[in-house]
Amino acid sequence: MELSKEEKFEKMKEIRGELLDFKESPLYQYRVKNKYFPVVGEGNHMARIMFIGEAPGKNEAETARPFCGRSGKLLDEMLASINLNRKDVYVTNVVKDRPPDNRDPTVEEINLYAPFLDRQIEIIQPKVIATLGRFSMDYIMIRLGLASQLQSISNMHGKEFVAQASYGSVTIIPLYHPAVALYNGSNKETLLQDFQTLKKYL
Ligand code: URA
Repeated sequence: MELSKEEKFEKMKEIRGELLDFKESPLYQYRVKNKYFPVVGEGNHMARIMFIGEAPGKNEAETARPFCGRSGKLLDEMLASINLNRKDVYVTNVVKDRPPDNRDPTVEEINLYAPFLDRQIEIIQPKVIATLGRFSMDYIMIRLGLASQLQSISNMHGKEFVAQASYGSVTIIPLYHPAVALYNGSNKETLLQDFQTLKKYL
């Protein structure tokens, strides 16, 4: 059953409250010490497309907004290339707190934070999940029952995989993480081309 805008807002607020108090996380002390925030997610709760990144960086943890640093600028550019902006989509991460020194999230961290992401997917009920980078790709493919189709991101990027969520079918489109395109023009070109795949779902 599709939730109303108000119900979605309330459920996201609950998640935010739980994350603020998420002392079970090994990242909690680091967050408090640095006066960081958990990054819940941002955008349109009624969106058809949900983007899922990896974990917040410093800018994100300081502002509580996903993808607001250099990778975020590139994400905005990619969205603009298909006439979208942040208000049209929902953007979040698998891990909601910043791992120290921008290291990769651990398996333990992914497993701890993933239930929040699962709930967010149930709230938004996206038609398309676009994963950004291999961590969210791996998690979503396995979570939505497509482990047997999982390969390296270099084989999967820009392709479409149909899965069954509790609320209906959802297309997973793995994309490279925008950070890989920051310093490499050909990666940027690939990402731009892969974004074109999203157009038919608008
Ligand atoms: N990288 C991510 O994966 N997520 C963010 O929110 C920012 C950078």
